[in-house]
Amino acid sequence: MFYGPDQAGIHHRAFGGLASTAAQHLRSLLAERGLDAGVVVDLGCGSGILARTLTDAGYEVTGADISPDMVALARETAPLARFVEGSLFDAELPPGCVAVTAIGEALNYGTDPRAGLDAVARLATRIHDALVPGGLWLFDAAGPGRAGPAQRVVQFHRRDDWCLGMVATESEDRRRLDREITMFIPGDDERYRRVDEHHVLRLYERGELASATVRAGFEVEFIDDYPQATAQATERTPLPGWYVVEATKPGPA
Ligand SMILES: C[S@@+](CC[C@H](N)C(=O)[O-])C[C@H]1O[C@@H](n2cnc3c(N)ncnc32)[C@H](O)[C@@H]1O
Repeated sequence: MFYGPDQAGIHHRAFGGLASTAAQHLRSLLAERGLDAGVVVDLGCGSGILARTLTDAGYEVTGADISPDMVALARETAPLARFVEGSLFDAELPPGCVAVTAIGEALNYGTDPRAGLDAVARLATRIHDALVPGGLWLFDAAGPGRAGPAQRVVQFHRRDDWCLGMVATESEDRRRLDREITMFIPGDDERYRRVDEHHVLRLYERGELASATVRAGFEVEFIDDYPQATAQATERTPLPGWYVVEATKPGPA
């Protein structure tokens, strides 16, 4: 199972903060460029949090996600947006869009067997062709070091209505991250149901992604975090092996 109903719901309720801060950042970048209206395409849109902020601001949003449970949640969260179930590598990119996004390491997941640097490079070219001059390709990505210096991280999250444990292991060559996730969800009979997911991520060096993006015709800037996330959470320090990419199609907006 990949972002099945339980994990999709947990992600939406407990881990949606990143999509909110990314959406705020996107809104300010678009405002700076005078791109106050138009189409935004959100790849790996998850539960529709970014889409909701953008439709509320008057943009026309389409989203694509490979998880049917995420798409179902997205349709509830952002009823004015249009969502498609399928791989981001096949997503339709309408000509003249003002922004394309992929938030929450969506480009890193190996769910689609085509995932990898070549597929990202081809996608970057399609995105460049679709964007208006001054338009933005905003995404975040995981790179080597994502599981810290020990190449292994163990996390545990507990709320009243679920617990989630995750063991993330980075391969020796630092090209792959395996996340073994186990959730316990209480049922009506006070017994817990166990749900397991295994996510595989391909890890991309900043330089590799920068060359793929520059080759597609973009001007590229890397930042350590969405600025609104740093402003809101005093304890938040940049995550190891994780970065945000602002890629701009050159030309007057
Ligand atoms: C960590 S979640 C982030 C969701 C959302 N962007 C957010 O920030 O809340 C990663 C998302 O990428 C989606 N995903 C992974 N691989 C994908 C692919 N090849 N095509 C489309 N969606 C994909 C997952 O289903 C999941 O919804």
